[in-house]
This record gives sequence, C-alpha cells and structure tokens, in this order.
Amino acid sequence: MAGLSDTAGATRILLVIGGGIAAYKSLDLIRRLKERGYAVRAILTAAAAEFVTPLSVAALTGERAFQNLFDLTDEHDVGHIRLARDADLVLIAPATADLLAKMANGLANDLASTALIATTARVLAAPAMNPTMWAHPATRRNVARLEADGVSFVGPAEGLMAERGESGLGRMSEPLEIVAAAEALLRPTGAPGLSGSLAGRRVLVTSGPTHEPIDPVRVLANRSSGRQGHAIAAAAARAGGEVTLISGPVAIPDPAGVTVVRVETAREMLNAVEAALPADLGVFAAAVADWRVADGAAQKIKKGAGGPPALTLVENPDILATVARGLRRPALVVGFAAETENVVEHARGKLARKGADMIVANDVSPASGVMGGDSNTVHIVTQDGVEDWPALSKAEVAERLVSRLAALLGPV
Ligand code: CTP
Repeated sequence: MAGLSDTAGATRILLVIGGGIAAYKSLDLIRRLKERGYAVRAILTAAAAEFVTPLSVAALTGERAFQNLFDLTDEHDVGHIRLARDADLVLIAPATADLLAKMANGLANDLASTALIATTARVLAAPAMNPTMWAHPATRRNVARLEADGVSFVGPAEGLMAERGESGLGRMSEPLEIVAAAEALLRPTGAPGLSGSLAGRRVLVTSGPTHEPIDPVRVLANRSSGRQGHAIAAAAARAGGEVTLISGPVAIPDPAGVTVVRVETAREMLNAVEAALPADLGVFAAAVADWRVADGAAQKIKKGAGGPPALTLVENPDILATVARGLRRPALVVGFAAETENVVEHARGKLARKGADMIVANDVSPASGVMGGDSNTVHIVTQDGVEDWPALSKAEVAERLVSRLAALLGPV
C-alpha cells in the first residue's frame, strides 16, 4: 500500500467518518480531495464501519483506515496523537449527532473522539442526521458550543432523508460543497483566488427565487431552491474567482468562500447586482418573479364580504437584460432559461432578446424534477449553436460551466 512518500509536501487532511447512511458519500469525498492533491487519512468510527468498509477507505486514501484506539499496530505505527497532529485540517463527514455531542463535551473514548480532542488544526464538520435530531435542543446546544470553540460547519442541506417519506434539514452537503468549504478554510485569510482558472476575476451570480409581497404576511414566489445558482457560485470560488452571490430567500447554506448578499424582491436583487458591479463574469441563475403586486398592502388583507381581493400585477425589471445592455456590462454574461416546453427555441429567443452571450436552458416541467431536485439536464445555447449536456448533478453542471466560462474569458 502506498505510504505518504508520494504525497510528501501535500496538504494533509484527516477525515473522520461517522456512522450514518451519508458515510457512503465520504468515499466520493476522499476521491475529490485526492484529485485536488490532498493527502488524506481517514478514521472510521465503529458505527461508520457498518456503512462503509475499511477496505474501500484504504483503497481510496492509499493508507490503512484507522479504526482502533487500542490497536497495537496502529498505535505503534501512527499513534492517535500523531494522527491528530499531522493534519492541516480535520474534516468530520458525516458528523453525526453522537460525534458532535462527544466533541462538544470533550469526550475521548474511541479513536475518532480522541483524535478530535488531540488536534490543534482547524476542524470542519459536515453534519448529517435526521431533521428531528438536528433540530433537537441538545444538538442545537452542541453546535453552538462547537462554533464558539472555533469549529466550522458546512451544511446540513435540506432534502429527502434515507427514511422513507421524510425530508427536511439534515442531509449531508454534497462532496464538492464540502471540498469547497475545506479549501476556503485552508486558504490563507485575505488571499482568495491566488490560483485557479478564475483567479483574478470578479464573478457575480444571482440565485434562488424572489419573493414579491402581497401584504406583510403573503408573497408571490416560485419553486426555485437556489441549488444550481449556489453550486455555480461555489464552483467559481473554487476556481479562484472573487465571487458575490446575490440570493433570494433559500433554505440552503451559503457556499464557502463567497460573499453572499441576501435579498427578497426583484427590485432589491437588481439594486444589489448593480452595487456589486463591475464584474468580469455575470451568471444570472435566479428565478426572478416576472411580476409584483402593484400596491402591496400595508396591513394583512382580511377576508370579507367583498370577496377575494383582485391583485393588480406590474412587471418587474429584467435584471439580466438591464445588466447585459448596461454601461457596466461584464465581459461575459450568462442567463438561464427555465422552460416547460420548446426549451431550446425559447432559449434562443432569450439569448437575442436579453443580450446575453450564453443561455443555459433547462426543462423545469414538473416531470423533469429539476426544481428543487439534485440533477439537471441542460442545453448550452450561444450564437454558435446548441450543445446538449447529459443529465448531471447540479454540482457537476456548475463545475463544467465554470471551466467553460473560465476558458471563454481566457487569462487575466
Ligand atoms: N431574469 C432576470 N430578471 C427578470 C426575469 C428573468 O434577470 N425579471 C433572468 C433570469 O435570471 C434568467 C433569464 O432572465 O437568467 C431568463 O429567465 P426566465 O424566467 O426563463 O425568462 P423570462 O424573462 O421570465 O421569460 P419568459 O416569461 O418568457 O419565460
């Protein structure tokens, strides 16, 4: 088995794998970290070994999977103190309720918890648990304690749970999001974007829906989750860009290494976008509400004898078109086209009408499962033609798109 010699000088990550169904994603996480040149060692808790095998972990890390505190071979070879000290970053994924509780209380009764209390490196936790466990006061207390102790968190995300029919906040973040959070922590502060294909580039991304008030308690909204836009912002930051993400109301975590500006309405989004200019690249992934209510009521509209209120709608500003045709137009402007029919044809129309350089078109009809889902099938529409991409995860679409856009921008 390979030793550390082939990765000498590499940044060292100690991955602590907790015992939860999300542990299967840790295998992909190891692969993604190794692809980026990190030296990865992994500790498996006893429960984790019920979900992934030490053999798979060893094959992917290129080292034994560390499991036992009282294993003479392990202790002789790389003791728990060295495991903890040798790391530049300790990453806990999945961070189960049990691991968080142990760490918050300084317990040390197995190899994972002992390494966690023996390290002086930065610690990043990617929680994964049932939403009820995540919301429990004990977990809230433990997370607050750990944050106060300097532990960083990525996720959890919202979505379907392994338990049939359950959904909510508790899914482990996707491996690429965890990698981005790890890279942001490892990057020297104040030095974003020193390397990568977008190094030295200012990037602006809009994401999520907008909410247009009807009265103080009701809004016009749409089903956008913000996942695709947020994934693009994260990928652009990973590529070294200086990224500002302007997001409507979403229930997903902020991407790592990105400046996030939160807005509610289309008009607020336009103002925030204009405040974030100039930029080299603008990606307009937000599902902006086309209309707002002409005169939002100052007080809650009451049911009454007059019957349902008649809402008068007026058109919102088109943010993409305003920026693409404006004086401070980014060198590269990318729009999205959310369509339920004639996807490419409509996207071609939008390319011309809005003055964008590229439209990423996708089918958002209910049958496609794109809105709120994890995957996306897109068509890249430019003046030169149409390119159909296969069904990919939103993180993969983001990665591909960012490398394409970086290539189009060329060197700084
Ligand atoms: N967009 C925008 N501001 C708006 C509406 C849309 O910036 N007020 C942007 C979106 O972020 C996306 C692109 O324009 O990049 C296309 O959005 P889409 O909703 O598909 O198109 P619409 O302009 O709403 O056109 P249509 O109603 O014909 O679908």
